[in-house]
Amino acid sequence: MTDIPSSSTPVISAEIDVAPRSATRILAIANQKGGVGKTTTAINLSTALAATGKRVMLFDLDPQGNASTGLGIDRNAAKSGSYEVLIGGEPIAAATVPTLVPRLVVVPASVDLSGAELELVDFERREFRLKEAFNSLDETYDYILIDCPPALGLLTLNALVAADGVLVPLQCEYLALEGLSQLVRTVERVNNAFNDRLTVQGIVLTMFDARNNLCNLVAADVRGYFGDIVYKSVIPRNVRVSEAPSHGKPVLLYDFNCLGSQAYIHLAGEFLRREEGREEGGSS
Ligand SMILES: Nc1ncnc2c1ncn2[C@@H]1O[C@H](COP(=O)(O)OP(=O)(O)O)[C@@H](O)[C@H]1O
Ligand SMILES: [Mg+2]
Repeated sequence: MTDIPSSSTPVISAEIDVAPRSATRILAIANQKGGVGKTTTAINLSTALAATGKRVMLFDLDPQGNASTGLGIDRNAAKSGSYEVLIGGEPIAAATVPTLVPRLVVVPASVDLSGAELELVDFERREFRLKEAFNSLDETYDYILIDCPPALGLLTLNALVAADGVLVPLQCEYLALEGLSQLVRTVERVNNAFNDRLTVQGIVLTMFDARNNLCNLVAADVRGYFGDIVYKSVIPRNVRVSEAPSHGKPVLLYDFNCLGSQAYIHLAGEFLRREEGREEGGSS
């Protein structure tokens, strides 16, 4: 894991970090565990938000590029992508590709992104590359969702530094709470060292199976511990959700009526109510 300074480390970048905040909300979809539904949530929450009229960008920061391929993007054909933005300093606008979904664009994960974690180490202000790229974005978006890789390395750190909030997909399984505590500690350290706007925007339970006792027990534990941060909407395990990416479509386009699609629509509604409450509450 990347060495994140503890809270006693002086905040080195406070004076540089003065770019005006735009109305764009940036959310990192993060969990250091793989296979918990980050990418699926990134694709389908983005789609559901775009369907309500929001302008959305999905930034694929996982070298596996599943968010890009799941949206039907041919990564080998894409001229540019998240690698060129992060390492090459290319403007995001040049790496943005439209999708089948109106108002949803994606910055695909270039094949080269797998080397970025190591290349970043040599950069000055290596934690701020993504944040600075977003600062120079002139296109306006309501939401930018960042699909993070399954690790707490420099790529995820760049996402956490650039983001206003973290959305955590959580699969209800053995040791889920331990992994979650580690992530929350990381968020706190990033918050102290690099980005004092960062909060946990929400936790969403994914691949939920109500017939599974362990699933129910873990869900109850997570809700007991994290309270209202946990979304009431739960994403059920649903075969249509897992089929959709091989068709290059969000499940909402693949099978609108299936339980998975309906769950993501509910989640988007709850997400937007939470976001609106945040604005009205005046907290950032
Ligand atoms: N609600 C769901 N029901 C069934 N399968 C799912 C669901 N959510 C995700 N999956 C499948 O589980 C696997 C891991 O999901 P993914 O979103 O890629 O996780 P991550 O990005 O955290 O690694 C994928 O094959 C995906 O299609
Ligand atoms: Mg993924």
